[in-house]
Amino acid sequence: MDSRVLIYEKDGGIAWVTLNRPDVLNALNMAMRDELWQVLHALHDDPDVAVAIFRGAGEQAFSAGADISEFGTAPSVVEARRARRERDLWGYMLAIDKPLIAAIHGFALGAGVELSMCCDLRIAAEDARLGLPEVSLAYIPSAGGTQLLPRTVSPGLAMGLILSGDAIDAQEALRIGLVQRVVPRQRLYAEAEALARQLMTRGPLALRYAKEALTQGLDLPLAEGLALEARLARLVLASRDAREGLRAQQEGRAPQFLGV
Ligand code: COA
Repeated sequence: MDSRVLIYEKDGGIAWVTLNRPDVLNALNMAMRDELWQVLHALHDDPDVAVAIFRGAGEQAFSAGADISEFGTAPSVVEARRARRERDLWGYMLAIDKPLIAAIHGFALGAGVELSMCCDLRIAAEDARLGLPEVSLAYIPSAGGTQLLPRTVSPGLAMGLILSGDAIDAQEALRIGLVQRVVPRQRLYAEAEALARQLMTRGPLALRYAKEALTQGLDLPLAEGLALEARLARLVLASRDAREGLRAQQEGRAPQFLGV
């Protein structure tokens, strides 16, 4: 896809999605949301895409959040609500059944952090600063932040971050579990790609069901979560991938997974 504000590239099973408004720290404007909606559908539907990596263009930021210059420009509150109902961007992203990785450098604020929390794994460069500053604008996080942050870190830490609006550095984000790994800035994309390639050696069906069990299970009572896990485990066990995985192990070779 050729576009100004979002770059979508495919490379051997990996989709690279680059937020591309470096002059304004990759702030998410309407145009970027429109393109993100298309790109998410493309990577969801494309059988050649196994894993996606999200990143920000330029040296300064993954994304400094929603584009402040567009605040208050929706035709009306009713219109804004209707648009949101019709196109649940973050809900769609969360429901994508392929692994999504966020490679975060520089500022990741507001919707920038929220977008990264719609990903399954987050790798941060040492220079990353993450925060949800919305309350300092007399606003609240609304790209999923109030719900995703307490599901990602402890509810108390999430409350502290959202009510203060303060940003934290990469090491603190690692300490509280907001990111899973911190790497030198110059290694960020190589590490994200290595992680993606590692995931691509795993059974794709197993990855999909593991992701489903984890994400849906968080919203279920334990007994229902365990029932979901049992149902998905049965499906995986009955798959050709599971038989191939076992055979490959017995024969001492790399498995050839088909995702079925
Ligand atoms: N929306 C629109 N434009 C933004 C933006 C945003 N969220 N964040 C940064 N920009 C723009 C700035 O207006 C500036 O544009 P200009 O060069 O035309 O003046 C450019 O990006 C660079 O930002 P600048 O503020 O000069 O960089 P900085 O290094 O001094 O500060 C931040 C970086 C991230 C601390 C600061 O830009 C900031 O606080 N941004 C807003 C973050 C925010 O509140 N996001 C959540 C919105 S809910």
